[in-house]
Formats: sequence, C-alpha cells, structure tokens
Amino acid sequence: MAVRLGDVAPDFEADTTEGKIKFHEWLGDSWGILFSHPKDFTPVCTTELGAVAKLKPEFQKRNVKVAGLSVDSVEDHNKWAGDIEETQGAALNFPLISDKERTISALYDMIHPNADNTLTVRSVFVIGPDKKVKLSLTYPASTGRNFDEILRVVDSLQLTANYSVATPANWKDGQDVIVVPSLSDADAEKKFPKGFTKVKPYLRTTPQPNK
Ligand code: BEZ
Repeated sequence: MAVRLGDVAPDFEADTTEGKIKFHEWLGDSWGILFSHPKDFTPVCTTELGAVAKLKPEFQKRNVKVAGLSVDSVEDHNKWAGDIEETQGAALNFPLISDKERTISALYDMIHPNADNTLTVRSVFVIGPDKKVKLSLTYPASTGRNFDEILRVVDSLQLTANYSVATPANWKDGQDVIVVPSLSDADAEKKFPKGFTKVKPYLRTTPQPNK
C-alpha cells in the first residue's frame, strides 16, 4: 500500500550503521528525510550518499534528520562507507538502514517490481515534526537525485508550516512567495507587514517573510 501525502509515516524498528533505531523515537521533534537507494557498492548510489553527507550542515540548519535505506546488510553498509569516504571526500554521517527482510521497503512501497523485483528504487519521503509525510518522490536506479532540490523543498515546506505561504514554480530561497488562497486580504495585511501584491484575486505575492 502506497504511503501518500498527509499519511502518518509508518513507524518501524531497524538495524542501522548507527545501531538499532525506532524510527519515530529517533525522529523526535525534528523533520525527517527517509530515502532508499538500490544497492551498496554501485556507482550512482556512491555519489548520492557522498552528496548527502556533504549536505549534513544544511540539514542540521533546518532541523532535519536524514536516514538512508537499502536491502543490504549493515556489514555491507559499513564496508561500503570506506569507499564513499575515499571516492566522494565525505564520510557517512547519518544512519544507513539495513532492510534485509524488506519489511520497511514494503511499508513504504519502495520496491517497484516492474522496475526491479528485489531492489529498492530511489524513493524520498520528507516527514514533518507531526510525523506526517509532506513530500514523496521516486527516481529510477539510473538517475541520481538532486539533493539541493530536496533542500529547496524542505525550505518551501517549512515556510508553509511557519508563515502560511506557498512557493511558485522554480522558486529559490530569497525570492517572493505566494500568499495561500485560504487567507483573506485583511488577514494577509496583518500577517505580512511588508505588504503583498495582488496580481489576481487568487495570485498574491509577498517578500519571503523570514528574510
Ligand atoms: C547505481 O547506483 O549506479 C545503480 C544501482 C542499481 C542499479 C543500477 C545502477
């Protein structure tokens, strides 16, 4: 059964490179990113895990905990970590889950049998502090993900959570944002002291509130 936006992210216990975790307990009050990769000791995955390790300060700044997952063993994850550090110039600095029994993959629908019967695809779930799924995406094994885009999504989600704004197409941090349609003009005036521009009654923009 697919995990959909707004669902509570399924809880689980798992063996990881940082010991056993209970997922919800481990998340605590943080935001979370759970992402799967197909297989240890493969080229695209090696570059992805190095990229995520390098972005750790950016995740920390946003109060986001990150965990990776594949169906390989913790022993393999730990052996592979040496290659990641050697080739990508960044040591693994977040837990990599071992899902040998494929129970977590099944919970999150990370195995797509028509793509590959046994390996996880490149799934990403962004989870809010309320443990609800805020974003999911799926990439094929042959395409490495753009983790800067995932950070951009986290920025957008956190703006929505904190300021009642949405972000337009191709929005980048620092650019104008959109006043959510559920807010009346009168409430928008109170909420956004920098003012807002009414392009159409349903399209109102305002400077990014936390800048
Ligand atoms: C890779 O990470 O390069 C990869 C993994 C599984 C299948 C194909 C490519």
